[in-house]
Amino acid sequence: MGILSKRILANKGIKTLTVAACLASLQPQAQTHNQSASYIWPKDTLVQQKLNQWQNNRFGLLMHWGTYSEWGIVESWSICPEDEGWTVRRGPYSSTYNGYVKAYENLQTTFNPTQFNPQKWADAAAAAGMKYVVFTTKHHDGFCMFDTKETDYKVTDAKTPFSTNPKSNIAKEVFSAFRAKGLMTGAYFSKPDWHSPNYWWPYFPPKDRNVNYDPAKYPEKWNAFKQYTYNQIKELMSGYGKMDILWLDGGWVRPYESIDKSVDWQRTIPYNQDIDMKNIATMARSYQPGLLVVDRTVAGEFENYQTPEQTVPKEPLDHPWESCITMGDSWSYVPNDHYKSSNYLVHLLIKIVSRGGNLLLNIGPSPEGDWSDTAYARLKDIGGWMAVNSTAIYSSKPVAPYEAGNLVYTQAKDGSYTSIFVLSPDNNDAVVLPATLSVDASIFGKKSKVTILGQKGELKWKTAGDKVEITIPKNLTGKQVGSYATVLKVTGK
Ligand code: GLC
Repeated sequence: MGILSKRILANKGIKTLTVAACLASLQPQAQTHNQSASYIWPKDTLVQQKLNQWQNNRFGLLMHWGTYSEWGIVESWSICPEDEGWTVRRGPYSSTYNGYVKAYENLQTTFNPTQFNPQKWADAAAAAGMKYVVFTTKHHDGFCMFDTKETDYKVTDAKTPFSTNPKSNIAKEVFSAFRAKGLMTGAYFSKPDWHSPNYWWPYFPPKDRNVNYDPAKYPEKWNAFKQYTYNQIKELMSGYGKMDILWLDGGWVRPYESIDKSVDWQRTIPYNQDIDMKNIATMARSYQPGLLVVDRTVAGEFENYQTPEQTVPKEPLDHPWESCITMGDSWSYVPNDHYKSSNYLVHLLIKIVSRGGNLLLNIGPSPEGDWSDTAYARLKDIGGWMAVNSTAIYSSKPVAPYEAGNLVYTQAKDGSYTSIFVLSPDNNDAVVLPATLSVDASIFGKKSKVTILGQKGELKWKTAGDKVEITIPKNLTGKQVGSYATVLKVTGK
């Protein structure tokens, strides 16, 4: 690992770099959500402000956690009756579909993550420089990691052993712990719910990921489902403290007219599944003014930022976006997952930020309620790097020439300085600087000053055509000056 795959995919005209680890996955990745083709800027000034603040934060944590973690399988998808790599039934009861679903739902009666300690996670995330968290309150399988009144398929129900634990309202504990460390909080919430009898009506067998009846033919059923969704989101937005992001997954629940037929998984959506986002967003923002609503892939006023998944747009985009990417291969916990290297992850963050995006890095907690040692070790490495270099990451914006060879550029939003990242080779953590470094002249002014973050003293430089040649002090050339990337700061443009 340690390299961004050079394979360039044309994704509706947007070129993306695919994360190599995803392709190398042993466990099939779940189906992926593409990036929307269009964007509408929010009109609400409070939303604009939060969006700006969120963009400045640049780096967040995503967690996928549920009863599926007990079997160490792909989150939710194995109960979806589609024949795809990511829906293969991997639990111990795979002979019949119905038997499997029963056993899967029965995982509720053994979910008991006694090591759950969200303060430990929040400490590790904050020390790594992460500024927001998005947590799975409910994934497609419908199991609620919060104390909803709408169903007993939840962590706080008496059937779940963990319900007797004082921290049983897991989502609440996660949000409180991260908020206490100063992070923004976001609720991942799946619009489709494969446990709800109003989404997968037991009268018919489920056919695929979609609602299993025609909402136009059975409007009272669909209305009941809409109400259920509204009520649950209301619980999350009114009873869990200050929330910053409502991250809605499962883009096949969408108005029929919003379907983009050029996208494979959207082409097969059989029905209008309009959940009334306007109503939901209005309610949510009445409790959480300025809330960012991220109705993934449903381009329009309720997708306040775009969410390319396991990919990074190849060029800077002028609207807000966030790549969600797994630290291992899988969104949810699988035993012995393959973790990306610290070098890879730091480079990923730098490249995303240089293109104007945020990185939402995912970790899947174990059934016992902790992360692997490797996840902590990666965050520690990233944190060590951020402690020296984060001024080149936060509150920055893209600046030409963005990226050239092993150099990547960002600029402070107020234009007061430009940062030049000198990346280490993909397969080697050490950054070794040459005696002179040739960089783009357009970021320099007559009185520019150049320093190296984490080092004392100014560097000499001179113009050479459309380049500037920076002289690296003798004591810093030819040996390791940092790990992953060393940052030169240029002021005075
Ligand atoms: C994919 C997966 C889904 C997961 C999401 C996270 O869409 O199918 O299970 O929650 O990625 O971005």
